[in-house]
Parts: sequence; C-alpha cells; structure tokens
Amino acid sequence: MLHRYFFYLCFMTKVKTVWFCSACGNESSKWMGRCPACGEWNTMVEEPKIKESTGVATSRNKAFMSAQDAKPESLDNITFTDENRCSLGNSELDRILGGGMVEGSMILIGGEPGIGKSTLSLQIPLFCNGLKTLYVSGEESSKQIKLRAQRLGGSDKQCFVLSETLLENIIVQAKEVKPSLLIIDSIQTIYSQNIESSAGSVSQVRECASSLLRYAKESNTPVILIGHITKDGSIAGPKILEHIVDVVLQFEGDTKGSYRILRSIKNRFGSTDELAVFEMTGSGLREVSNPSEMLIPMHQDNLSGIAISAMIDGTRPFLIEIQALVSTAAYGTPQRSATGFDVRRMNMLLAVLEKRSGFKLAAKDVFLNIAGGLRVTDPACDLAIVASILSSNFDLYISPNICFSAEVGLSGEIRPVSQVERRIAEAEKLGFKQIYISSFNKESSFSKNKNGNIQVVAVSDISSLCRKLFKE
Ligand code: TYD
Ligand code: MG
Repeated sequence: MLHRYFFYLCFMTKVKTVWFCSACGNESSKWMGRCPACGEWNTMVEEPKIKESTGVATSRNKAFMSAQDAKPESLDNITFTDENRCSLGNSELDRILGGGMVEGSMILIGGEPGIGKSTLSLQIPLFCNGLKTLYVSGEESSKQIKLRAQRLGGSDKQCFVLSETLLENIIVQAKEVKPSLLIIDSIQTIYSQNIESSAGSVSQVRECASSLLRYAKESNTPVILIGHITKDGSIAGPKILEHIVDVVLQFEGDTKGSYRILRSIKNRFGSTDELAVFEMTGSGLREVSNPSEMLIPMHQDNLSGIAISAMIDGTRPFLIEIQALVSTAAYGTPQRSATGFDVRRMNMLLAVLEKRSGFKLAAKDVFLNIAGGLRVTDPACDLAIVASILSSNFDLYISPNICFSAEVGLSGEIRPVSQVERRIAEAEKLGFKQIYISSFNKESSFSKNKNGNIQVVAVSDISSLCRKLFKE
C-alpha cells in the first residue's frame, strides 16, 4: 500500500491523472479498492487527465448550447411510424432488434475475438440492397475488407469502406458520405485527439462512444458499434458503453464450433427475450431460422448416453442433444466435467441420483457435453441430463423418438417447467413420439396435445422415470 502511494506521488508530479472505474466509468481523483458508484471491487484504472480546454469544459458548453436549441414538445405531436425502422435484410437480425433498426439509434455488438462480429457487420451492407453504408475499420485495411467481402460472396456499390482510427476524421467523412448506416469496427481501436490516453482506455471509449452518439442523434443515422470483451477486464469492455447505447447484442457460442447465438441484452425499442442463431460457414454467417436443426443427428441409432431436451432460450423453444459418458474412474478421485453446462449443477444432479435414488456413481467419471457448442442454463434440461447419465451408466440406449423437459429437485422430485405446451408443440413439430414431463404440470397445459401425434408421459420421480424409460 505504502509502495503504491509512493509510486502514485512520484507519478503525480509529472502527469495529472484521474481514476476511472472500468465497470461503470465513474471518475475519482484517487485510487479506491471499491468503486463508490457501482460497488465493484478492484476496477479502478489510472488514466491521464483530459485536457481542460477541450474535454469536460467543451462538452458542458455543448450541452448548454444544445439545451437552448431543443424545445419541449407534446407527446401527441411526435410521430413515430414503422417507417422509422429500417430492415437490415436479415430476418433473424431484424427480429432481435424488434422489427428492424430504429433511425438514430446506436447498437453495440459485443463478443469474444474470432466469434464473427466483423463478418456479421460486413454482411449487413453486402446483403442489404441499396442501404448506403459506411464501414469503418480500425483493425483491417481496405484490402483486407475487400478480401473478406469476396469471401462472403457479396458486393455493393453503396457500401463504402474506410480504414481509420481517428474519431474526428471518421465524423468528418461520415458527414461527407452521409450514409444511412455507420458501422464502427471496433470502438476499442478508435481514439479522439481530445484525450491523451491510448485507444481502448476507459476515457477514450467513453468519449468516442458519446461523440458517435451525438452524430447518430443529430444526423438520424443508425450506428453499429463493435465492442471487444476481455476476460480480465483490463481494457475498457463494453460494460460502460451499455449505458450509452440503445441496444446491446452479445455474440455467444464456441468459436471452434459452428453455431453462434446473438442475444439481445438491452433494447430500448424491443424485447430482450430474443435471440438469433447463426451458423458460421465457409462463406460467412448463415441465418438458422429453425434452431432445432442443430439437433440433426450425427451418429447412428442405438447409442447409449444420448438424450434430447426440449428447452426454451429467450422466447424460442428448441431441442438440443445432451451427451453423457459414465465410466469407472481410472484414478482415485473421479473426474467430473461438463461442456456447455454448469458443472456445479451437474454435481448436484449426480448427488441427487446417488442419495435419493441409490445409483452408485461416486466412483465413476462423468463427462457431459451439450452438442453444437451451445451453453444451456434452462433448468428444464435437468431431466434430459439425468436420463443421459443413467443411459450411459446402464449402457441402455434411449429411443431417438423420445425427448425430455422437466427440472429435477434436490429431493429427487421431477418439477414442472414453464411454457410446457410450447415445448411439447415444438417436439411434436420435429416428429418426436414421446415427451417426458413432470406429473406436477397442470393437466390443462398439455391436454391440448392429447389428440396430437406425441404422447405426453408424466413422471413424478427418478425411479418412475427409470421404470418407464428402461422398462426394468
Ligand atoms: P471475425 O468476424 O473476424 O471475428 P471477430 O471480428 O469477432 O473477431 O470472424 C473470425 C472467424 O470467422 C475466423 O476464425 C474465420 C471465420 N470465418 C469463417 O469461418 N467464414 C467466413 O466466411 C469468414 C469471413 C470468417
Ligand atoms: Mg473483428
């Protein structure tokens, strides 16, 4: 602590610095262990102070001047029609934005490196006929962008590219080109002359994003920002940007797998329960309008350890394949590992199987995998996980016509899940013959399907599941 203080004193004599919270952007004159604004620990980062003449003072003046220009209006007199939304030529993307992009809005697309942010943002202008776009890249040269566009197999006269990192130049060019959509790839590579710190720092990201927001609102142009996410949080991540922008979309998925999920985290103009599924192919991202296609079996029948779960992510039901492998532990301590699922929840389910149902799994290695590189959190997957573990343990296969949708409680009871009728309908649509659900689900919620092609099997505990499934 003393050492830090000494270093701080020495440093202060040369350059004036301030401390920013990397989580919320709160400014402080001194270092603090805990940010007083958001309560996060260890998030304060030191940065050079903004030039007085240009930074804070000017933005205050600007705020004062624009306050004089703006006049209050009656809500009745303000018109907004669906024409103020523009389609991005990609039905999945339009849907998660709530029906297209709103004029003058700012959209942030975040995600890990290599997940496909640049690919998606270049695909928008290429496949959106006639939308005049300015694609600014701070990461790639114009030639590299051309190469990517060729790979994506699209071309558009209305798509302008600019390889630039200086914010002031970007705004000048944007005002000249007057695009209908401005894309910035990425916000962490853009810097403003008014701020001394390096590109990607908290103050740069905040200043650049607010300047671009001002441009968006003044010119009524939608702006898409690409934001990086780092695991250690040393670079200003999109967290502080989330307050500034109107819509936050997050890319999820395994960069090595081919399926990507774009999830809406914040949306001032639509629901946040939406998600879009894409598949990364050799020629860019392909919309997956029926997410259950991820389920297409890539194995022969009669394999043990495989169970299908009817889950809901966002507002859409889809079916996913769960794979389990239970084998005798080679070493003293059994291994437990889960890909795409919370390993603690898997351990809990194993403890329930051990204690409540008497299965001896304590000396077995258990590996769990969610097919397609997805990450699932829906508790309705519990029953399929239990079924796949038991199937692998007994080495008895589950018929591929069966799927599951229920939560498993700590006392081994099978609990009901929400929207069960939608899950049943999705399973029926995909040709499943049987779905196992909790017997505590209200009869009325699935009685509609009684005459359907799918048989609803209600189970109340794990032993009745075993009896019905493996007919022991
Ligand atoms: P990219 O959009 O550059 O990721 P980000 O901008 O999020 O860092 O995508 C990178 C990955 O996508 C890269 O590993 C290669 C792959 N890719 C394809 O598989 N097909 C394609 O058509 C393109 C353009 C990229
Ligand atoms: Mg990129």
